Amino acid sequence: MKFFVDTAEIDAIAELNDLGMVDGVTTNPSLIKKSGRDIIEVTKEICDLVDGPVSAEVTATDADTMIAEGRKLLEIADNIAVKVPLTWDGLKACKTLSDGGAMVNVTLCFSANQALLAAKAGATFISPFIGRLDDINLDGMDLIEDIRTIYDNYGFNTQILAASIRSVNHILDSARIGADVITAPPGVIKNMINHPLTDKGLDAFLKDIAAADIKIL
Ligand code: G3P
Repeated sequence: MKFFVDTAEIDAIAELNDLGMVDGVTTNPSLIKKSGRDIIEVTKEICDLVDGPVSAEVTATDADTMIAEGRKLLEIADNIAVKVPLTWDGLKACKTLSDGGAMVNVTLCFSANQALLAAKAGATFISPFIGRLDDINLDGMDLIEDIRTIYDNYGFNTQILAASIRSVNHILDSARIGADVITAPPGVIKNMINHPLTDKGLDAFLKDIAAADIKIL
C-alpha cells in the first residue's frame, strides 16, 4: 500500500519522507490556504522533496480552463498529478490530460458510479472521501469496498486513493480492503505507531536496564 501525505506543510512532509513513509503528496485548495503559501511555489518545493506523485488541484470549474490550469501545473515538475473535481467538466479535463500522458487524480468521489466514470475517463487515481461520508452517517469503507470490487471485475488500472482519512482505523480498513493508496494528514500517519502495550513494555525494560545497569556502549 502506498502512503501519500495529505498536506502542504513542507516540514511535516520532510519529516515523514526521511523515514521512507512518503510515496506521494496530495494537496487541495483548503490545504494550500492553510499553508499560507503561493500554490505554484509551495507545490514546486514539495515536488523537489518527494519523488512520487504530488497532486495539485485546479481552481476552475469549466473543462477548458481546468485543462489550461492543469498544463500550467504540469510545468512545475514531472511528478505532478493534476487534481480535478468529479464533474462532467472535470471528467472532460481528465480525459484530455490523461490522453496527453499526464497523471490525473479525480477528487470529491462519493459514489461507486462516479468512480466508474472516472476510470473510464482515464483517471490515474480516484479519491473517495471516507471521512466526509462518515460525517453524514454513511460508511466510507463500503464505498472503498465497492470501488475495489468494480475495478477488479473489469481490470481498470485506476488506483484507489482513499482520502479524507481521519483515523488510524480508516487506514487499517483501507489496507484490509485493498485500497492502492491512502492519503492522510501527517498526524494520523504518526498515530499509527501508538500502542499502550509498547509503551508499557518499554517502561518495564527501561526499569530493568537501570536496575541491572545494562550497558552496550
Ligand atoms: O484528500 C482530501 C482530504 O484532504 C479531505 O479531507 O478531512 O477535509 O475531509 P477532509
